[in-house]
Amino acid sequence: MTDFLSIQDVTSIDSLIQEGLNAKQNPFANQHLGQRKTMGLIFFNSSLRTRLSTQKAAQNLGMNVMVMNVGQDSWGLEMEDGVIMNGDKAEHVKEAAAVIGRYCDVIGIRAFAGLQDREKDYSEQVLSQFKKYADVPLVNLESATRHPLQSLADCITIEEFKTKKRPKVVLTWLPHFKALPQAVANSFCEWMNHRDVELVVTHPEGYELAPEFVGDAYVTHNQAEAFEGADFIYGKNWSSYTQYGKVLTQDSSWMMTMDKLERTDNGKFMHCLPVRRNMKVTDEVLDSPQSLVIEQAANREWSAQAVLTEILQSL
Ligand code: CP
Repeated sequence: MTDFLSIQDVTSIDSLIQEGLNAKQNPFANQHLGQRKTMGLIFFNSSLRTRLSTQKAAQNLGMNVMVMNVGQDSWGLEMEDGVIMNGDKAEHVKEAAAVIGRYCDVIGIRAFAGLQDREKDYSEQVLSQFKKYADVPLVNLESATRHPLQSLADCITIEEFKTKKRPKVVLTWLPHFKALPQAVANSFCEWMNHRDVELVVTHPEGYELAPEFVGDAYVTHNQAEAFEGADFIYGKNWSSYTQYGKVLTQDSSWMMTMDKLERTDNGKFMHCLPVRRNMKVTDEVLDSPQSLVIEQAANREWSAQAVLTEILQSL
């Protein structure tokens, strides 16, 4: 694997999951791979898990790591080609990506959707511009449309906790007052469509995800029906794709509660974090033994390590 921008860059998901599980057992087995190599972590948006887990994974592999918050630690970056740069962006991505590429052997980039212009967001402008100008392998640390490192960690977590060969996995929309991107939900569906699971997606009307991500999932507006017999409930809020970036409802009846979890087949609750307690999910659910949110976050280290191992092996 050279880049890790989406599932399309992965040769074998099973091998990548196994690589993550191996790293979890023996974190320093491949320390030689990253020696004298540098990883740059470039953040256009905030992060706790992605930043720390990817840094730790790179260090486990012997890499040096540099982290930069664009616009805070660096100049603001212009992404449009051919513009007169008389605004607040002092540097063009053309130079910035090329320069960072000279300092780093691998670059990770986080750049969320702006949620104003669907076509622009779904064109993945920031990743595309870095791909064009950086000339080194890139890792997606959550882009406008996808969060593949999270999805890989989710696959590892489901593999560890499943009690059936083909578990029922439900992605449910949860209420939130702010407009959030579709990236985690898109990516989760995209990866689950490649796993041996019964995938169900449930959300209020108007929250349909892009069909290319939903794939073969069964979609229902009836959350109770979706939860029947579920082995894993994956909660997430996202803003509307069809009425792009809009919050159409904050209906609290969609919140994840213990009553609902008890109506599953001893289902486990998953969420990528951060999560707003008692807005999207009750304290009771998050603090229950059925919550996997900390295990999931812990597995972010091993998903990043699996990906970086394959990239370093290709250098
Ligand atoms: N799940 C996740 O990506 O967390 P952060 O936004 O804190 O990195």
